Amino acid sequence: MAATILAIESSCDDTSAAVIGDGRVLSNCVSTQEMHRIYGGVVPEVASRAHQVNIIPVVEMALKNAGVNKQDISAVAFTRGPGLLGSLLVGTSFAKAFALSYDIPLIEVNHMQAHVMAHFAEAPFPDFPFLCLTVSGGHTQIIRIDDYLKMEILGETLDDAAGEAFDKAGKMLGLGYPAGAQIDKLAQTGTARFPFPEPAVPGLNFSFSGLKTAILYFLRDQMAQNSNFIEENLADISASIQQTIVTILLKKLRKASRQTGIRTVALAGGVSANSGLREALEKYGGKEGWKTFVPRFEYCTDNAAMIGITGYYKFLRSEFCDQDAAPYARGFTS
Ligand code: KG4
Ligand code: ZN
Repeated sequence: MAATILAIESSCDDTSAAVIGDGRVLSNCVSTQEMHRIYGGVVPEVASRAHQVNIIPVVEMALKNAGVNKQDISAVAFTRGPGLLGSLLVGTSFAKAFALSYDIPLIEVNHMQAHVMAHFAEAPFPDFPFLCLTVSGGHTQIIRIDDYLKMEILGETLDDAAGEAFDKAGKMLGLGYPAGAQIDKLAQTGTARFPFPEPAVPGLNFSFSGLKTAILYFLRDQMAQNSNFIEENLADISASIQQTIVTILLKKLRKASRQTGIRTVALAGGVSANSGLREALEKYGGKEGWKTFVPRFEYCTDNAAMIGITGYYKFLRSEFCDQDAAPYARGFTS
């Protein structure tokens, strides 16, 4: 069955549209909202308004880049949740209106499931079963995947997400938002010589709020003795923070792998761009005999291609939704 899916993603601050033809990405356009940088975080109301401005041009561009007409679309897939409700509403309303106008099915997609499904945007594809560590500004999860749409959360953060830990630490260091990539860059010239505590969280769950407090107190104490401490030691502090976060993530991933006996291990989410995390994955992975998968960065951060790929597998199973499907802020499966 030929399937051309138009996919919409608007869960946070990126407006994205993609076209997927028979499971292949034909286009993937993202409009990033830079204005949140000055606020040091995403402002929900501002994000929602920007989605309203961006959504039609982004969809037009996705169709144009794919060389597909609106009439050729078989179904519309959209992010129903989790995310910011005001942002989700824009994408959801657009998708519903489009489906209604062209009398085509509507497919709701869970954003976290889609991050995992990004591994099927481009070969090489992981074999089932595999484990996926999804790490972004909003999420930290270890997921077991048994089939395209069959997955289970084995562990997740009890408080802050890993990307949030990078961003909040960066704020304390006077770096701009988001800070993950800057800490990564600084860490490359630094030495991880400041020890920060790893939290004792049972099972496969995570916690990053204790690290945030530890960094805050550490900086406060050091600055009391030397007011130039941060600028004199920025690279080493960054390397120490990065190493602590990476170690926390990798230890849990190793635990999950040993518990389940699954040695195919994948990364997803914006933090998977982190060079320390990638290096550690290779190092630990080598020792543990893992086969590792990290999608191209374009498919790691929020993007509509991953929504379209998920939508494609739902389309094959005729998993459609009604016009009354409302967005939801939290949750893994709808
Ligand atoms: O997946 P994403 O683009 O958006 C969502 O949060 O859903 O992830 C953004 C997060 C931010 O917290 C950002 O600081 C982090 O990914 N990030 C990084 C790096 N690049 C982006 N964190 C560490 N190292 C990086 N190189
Ligand atoms: Zn995301």
